[in-house]
Amino acid sequence: MRHQTIHRDNVLRGKNIIIGISGGIAAYKTPQIVRLLKKSGAKVRVALTDGATRFVSELALATVSEERVYRSIFPPADTSGTDYTRHISLGEWADAFVIAPATANTLAKLSAGLCDDMLTALFLTLRPRKPVLIFPAMDGQMFLSASVQRNIATLTAQGCRVINPDSGELASGLCGVGRMPEPESIVASLQNALHSTAATSPLYGKSVVVTAGPTREKIDGVRFISNYSSGKMGFAIARAAAKRGAMVTLITGPVHLETPPEVTRLDVESALEMHDTALSCFKSCNVFIGAAAVSDYRPLDPSEGKMKKENPEIELTLVRNPDILAEFGLQKASGQLAVGFALETQTGLGNARKKLKAKNLDLIAFNFFDRKTSGFEVDTNILTLIDKEGVTTELPLLSKDAAAGQLLDCIEKLCVYTPGINPLKNV
Ligand SMILES: Cc1cc2nc3c(=O)[nH]c(=O)nc-3n(C[C@H](O)[C@H](O)[C@H](O)COP(=O)(O)O)c2cc1C
Repeated sequence: MRHQTIHRDNVLRGKNIIIGISGGIAAYKTPQIVRLLKKSGAKVRVALTDGATRFVSELALATVSEERVYRSIFPPADTSGTDYTRHISLGEWADAFVIAPATANTLAKLSAGLCDDMLTALFLTLRPRKPVLIFPAMDGQMFLSASVQRNIATLTAQGCRVINPDSGELASGLCGVGRMPEPESIVASLQNALHSTAATSPLYGKSVVVTAGPTREKIDGVRFISNYSSGKMGFAIARAAAKRGAMVTLITGPVHLETPPEVTRLDVESALEMHDTALSCFKSCNVFIGAAAVSDYRPLDPSEGKMKKENPEIELTLVRNPDILAEFGLQKASGQLAVGFALETQTGLGNARKKLKAKNLDLIAFNFFDRKTSGFEVDTNILTLIDKEGVTTELPLLSKDAAAGQLLDCIEKLCVYTPGINPLKNV
């Protein structure tokens, strides 16, 4: 289950927030979101769909928000002195727009640009750079359906923050992904988004792709070749980048880690799967960070079923896997940054420098591996960062979260200060 801490400094005070509510069962929780926002000093207006009124009362929302609520874009015919273009003035008024719950139907309307009610019209009138947070909530199968996922991808590409639903018991009685996060968690996501908007991180709004974890290379139906990677470093980088306002896609091999808040996670198993998934992100990403421990080789001809224990010896032919990071580095366009890791068991700074050049990277983190304090599985790491100008920064033993922060500081500098590197732009 998602868990987020609410920022102590109150970024919500004095902010104008619109809550858009569509017709999912989770709508019954929305008065609590409004109440929490009001308690933090925000002004709240509510726009709800006709469907939403089946699940939550307009009177309850008007009472907790201390404002009239909006449904249609058409004002009553007999009202004089009305702001007839309220869908535009409210869009200008808002500092942020939170759509919770977002039904499959409303996601489709938003992604298609339809605007036949106040909620969908406001979505179109909101100014760029004002955070839009969308919390899809629905049955698990609905959420995973191709059309819902396509609509989510469209909205994400437009700069909306689509926050994956939680897993747990659903209204249908089934268990799965689809639950709207709790009101406290929604408020925390909004606070983070407002913080990142305010922050001056050059990574804000940029598309950052991180690979993490090990890959598994099938020997037969029940066995594989892999490594000790836990994914902790890649997940720490993804978490830190999302906190700085980046739109993060995390492509991960099999790991036992929770998805960091506001990160889009794509699970893969083999190096070839990771390669194919990464390829689809190459063109649109601003920064590609290869932190996965991708197997260099895979068995040439894995058996379908379980191999029998018949021979005293067997031979396994291994073939090279694609080098995902090198592929990105060698084809990246200006305005894109490639960042890699070089895990070495001995003093391998020279090797790391060679990799940096050969793969056309902008930055490499030489990762000393001793299995006790740094490298795979443990919570700490020792990194030496080398950028393409040769500037070398030796970091002490740090938690992986702190090391991720230092790495991102370095990437931010590359975005802004290094001559020859074009400023990143959203693609
Ligand atoms: C009892 C019930 C619960 C529903 N819960 C959801 C839900 O959680 N998520 C969802 O996407 N649709 C849900 N629906 C379907 C929507 O209400 C329906 O698609 C509606 O057209 C949504 O309209 P709106 O997006 O304009 O609010 C539910 C329908 C019923 C009858």
